Amino acid sequence: MKILVTGGLGYIGSHVSVLLLEKGYEVIIVDNLDNSSISVLEGIKKITNLSPVFEKLDIRDYNQIELFLSKHNDLSGVIHFAAHKSVSESVENPLKYYDNNVLGFINLYNLIKERKIPLIFSSSATVYGNADSVPIKEDAPIKEAFSPYGKTKQICEEIIRDTTKSNLSTKSVVLRYFNPVGAHPSGLIGELPNGKPQNLIPFITQTLIGKINKLMVFGNDYPTEDGTCIRDYIDVMDLAEAHIKSLEFILEPKNDKNFEVINIGTGKGHSVFQIIKIFEKVTKKKLKYKVTGRRKGDVPVSYADCSKAKEILGWTSKLSIEESIASSWNWENNN
Ligand code: NAD
Ligand code: UD1
Repeated sequence: MKILVTGGLGYIGSHVSVLLLEKGYEVIIVDNLDNSSISVLEGIKKITNLSPVFEKLDIRDYNQIELFLSKHNDLSGVIHFAAHKSVSESVENPLKYYDNNVLGFINLYNLIKERKIPLIFSSSATVYGNADSVPIKEDAPIKEAFSPYGKTKQICEEIIRDTTKSNLSTKSVVLRYFNPVGAHPSGLIGELPNGKPQNLIPFITQTLIGKINKLMVFGNDYPTEDGTCIRDYIDVMDLAEAHIKSLEFILEPKNDKNFEVINIGTGKGHSVFQIIKIFEKVTKKKLKYKVTGRRKGDVPVSYADCSKAKEILGWTSKLSIEESIASSWNWENNN
């Protein structure tokens, strides 16, 4: 089966592409290289000994995407990763985010909907905003997102929900990722943050190799045991597996569900201080850090209820936080 992976040279897309290839799918990647490098394609080829089709293409270019889809008129599914993902940049430049994440998506969705190709869409736990309780279930109320980035995910989810309601022959799975971390065990692909990292794990690895002077811990006065925020860190390899399971689910002819929203996390929370301790244990290095003020928009505690993923997809996370941190460290050293 032939699967189109948009943004397939990015962090999550590259890991999913590897697993798809290993599972025998034919993989077609489009990426405009806005936040990735062509060297990732070499990493994918080295790991799998297989060559996915790659085309440098911007999903906002309707004519090019249409031409591309007419060349590949036998697609079984689309996994859509291509989007911008920086929360702070989206606050500074909201239009850039609405343009790429919403208009770009509508462009692509129009074309795949016409062709009745099933879709797996990358959403985020950010759509929950500051949830009333944890673990967060999929039916938790969607609060106002803190950033234009979060709003683009909420908008795309609504677009997909409405479209599947009005056109029952389209099928979609929306995956709400919690905090993706880790890297492929080979150390050949991983997260390549553009400029200074904003997320905790790449910030720590870059501090440990001396690229960054010290980590700023954003607040230790939250209502948690040690005062720092708690998150659900999900390994990118487990996340990749969840995409394969979603694909199997959506391609199963007996399955008559045409729209599902599913949390992808571990169901466990770790605080910033716990993550620092695990890093120090795994790397046997001391991390330089300083506690500073809270970051605007951070929620105190976020972790997933993953029972729906288990029930519907037969998926649960397998890797421990120690294993994820070890693979992030291996990737940083290899990179
Ligand atoms: P990434 O930036 O590493 O990958 C996205 C890829 O899409 C990049 O290779 C980029 O060049 C490409 N791209 C962007 N705009 C494009 C366009 N217009 N046309 C073609 N290619 C384009 O990001 P990621 O971490 O792999 O995230 C993948 C998806 O998952 C995104 O939709 C993101 O919002 C979502 N997500 C990510 C996280 C996370 O923490 N990484 C969490 C929740 C959801
Ligand atoms: C961030 C995004 C969210 C996105 C998610 C996954 C924000 C407000 N939210 O979530 O929309 O879906 O990434 O990519 O940016 N921390 C520090 N120091 C740092 C960096 C982070 O103390 O230098 C803390 C944060 O306060 C937070 C935790 O580490 O408590 C995790 O932060 P991060 O990796 O940025 O993820 P989220 O904030 O959960």
